[in-house]
Amino acid sequence: MTDYVHKNKLAWDSSAHLHKSSARWDALCAGFASPGYATFDPTATACLTQIGLTGKSVAQLGCNNGRETISLLNLGASSATGFDQSTAFLDQARTLAQIANKPATFVEANILDLPADYTARFDLVVITIGVLNWLPDLQPLFDTIRRILAPGGQVFIYETHPILDIFEPDAPDPFRAELSYFRKEPYIEDKAITYTGQSPDSTAPSYWFFHPIGDVITNLLQSGLNLRHFKEYPHSNREELYDIYAQRDAKLPMCFTLIAQN
Ligand SMILES: C[S@@+](CC[C@H](N)C(=O)[O-])C[C@H]1O[C@@H](n2cnc3c(N)ncnc32)[C@H](O)[C@@H]1O
Repeated sequence: MTDYVHKNKLAWDSSAHLHKSSARWDALCAGFASPGYATFDPTATACLTQIGLTGKSVAQLGCNNGRETISLLNLGASSATGFDQSTAFLDQARTLAQIANKPATFVEANILDLPADYTARFDLVVITIGVLNWLPDLQPLFDTIRRILAPGGQVFIYETHPILDIFEPDAPDPFRAELSYFRKEPYIEDKAITYTGQSPDSTAPSYWFFHPIGDVITNLLQSGLNLRHFKEYPHSNREELYDIYAQRDAKLPMCFTLIAQN
């Protein structure tokens, strides 16, 4: 399992320069120069408002370039710690925090095995778009979340829906199910990881794991967390090439929100 985690770290690190030389990065630098800037979409914002951020100590797992960790501070969290295993993306996160002039903390770590120092430290744990699929197993993730949450603390997840993993959006027929929803072996990609669907260079291979919704809920319950909210949505929070699935009358679940309590 740690072998896959390490290989995915190499893949994310070697893709980081592409993200930093993009219009998306320039927009983040410009945005965080304004006080109170936040990058959450309306769905995530509504859930975070319902949970309440004011005065909370928040951790984000798989924080990438830290845009959301810093946004959590701009929305009222008293402290925000972003965990990620990519050295190169955490460098970008520290640059954005400097631009925003916010005291976000960024820690390089495997989120399946966070150091004991973080036990019972957080009121809220946040995970968003595109983290669960990089993890070979969700049980250690939920066990870690439970451990780092203070008593009564909550976890908020806003993720892509695993049903989308059965499709290949750039296949000749993108609506044909190509892969099993219950696939056990990882999908291996040897192109750089970008959010545009176009990856110019090949890189260290990355490993994408399928986690049916039933596994997400079961692993969460097995960790001892209490499920408080679970909702599926027909809008896409993925790369633009997935918009074709959201534009049809026959709607699919494209993403979900989940809140659980310690
Ligand atoms: C798609 S990005 C998250 C983007 C973020 N949700 C956002 O919208 O800004 C996924 C991140 O998860 C991180 N990641 C994947 N597996 C990890 C692990 N085992 N431990 C720590 N970070 C991990 C990657 O390094 C990457 O930065």
